[in-house]
Amino acid sequence: MDRDIRNIVILTGAGISAESGLATFRGPDGLWEGHRVEDVCTPEALARNPALVHRFYDERRARLDAVEPNPAHEALAALDVEWPGDLLLVTQNVDDLHERAGAKRLIHMHGELRSALCAACGKAVPWSAPLPPESTCAGCGKPRLRPDIVFFGEMPYEMDAIDEALRRADLFVSVGTSGAVYPAAGFVQTARHVGAHTLELNLEPSAGSVYFDESRMGPASLLVPALVRELLT
Ligand code: APR
Repeated sequence: MDRDIRNIVILTGAGISAESGLATFRGPDGLWEGHRVEDVCTPEALARNPALVHRFYDERRARLDAVEPNPAHEALAALDVEWPGDLLLVTQNVDDLHERAGAKRLIHMHGELRSALCAACGKAVPWSAPLPPESTCAGCGKPRLRPDIVFFGEMPYEMDAIDEALRRADLFVSVGTSGAVYPAAGFVQTARHVGAHTLELNLEPSAGSVYFDESRMGPASLLVPALVRELLT
């Protein structure tokens, strides 16, 4: 990668956590194979059957205790610490493996399992236990805590900050995502528009592969450490 790279934006998806043992959404045994999005990941589902929605996220939150960051998470954390220019790691994932690996310049655009959001006052609080429906918000006292997950049809978090970083990017890297869900799937277009080099690291071609300058196919735990070595030497 022979170019003057200063500002990097990296987007990660479920594929970066697959080798840590967490299910992806659309692959074999994917989460959307066992559940319908409209039953567990929409505001309507939460209103219609809160117990089912809360249970779906309780099960996924509990699974976090049994998994560890893999070499891909660790390599990105090392890049975050050592990279002298701007670097923003944007994850679609709601697991905590990037932060557990040590990443700091990190945005969870789809929310986090280890957080609860008050639907009444909008306050988010760290949460690692099961979250029964109608749990009380310590901030406003109302029984309106819900999983701090961005449901389909809701606005992802920190889009202004993400957009600003993309517009300044010299390099955009996408790791382990099918490119099936917007706005994340459109980030490569924004990066291309500003002249950034665009690189996809994925196990297989994705819906977005056609938009990338370069695609490297293989497991994230091999491709990401190799890319970080390339960038840091
Ligand atoms: N290494 C690299 N890539 C992998 C690996 C691996 N070990 N295993 C799987 N992948 C790739 C798959 O080939 C697939 O392209 O990761 C991608 C996972 O795609 P999805 O399951 O669709 O997950 P993701 O792209 O993160 O989904 C985006 O959709 O349902 C919503 O909010 C949810 O954030 C999620 C969003």
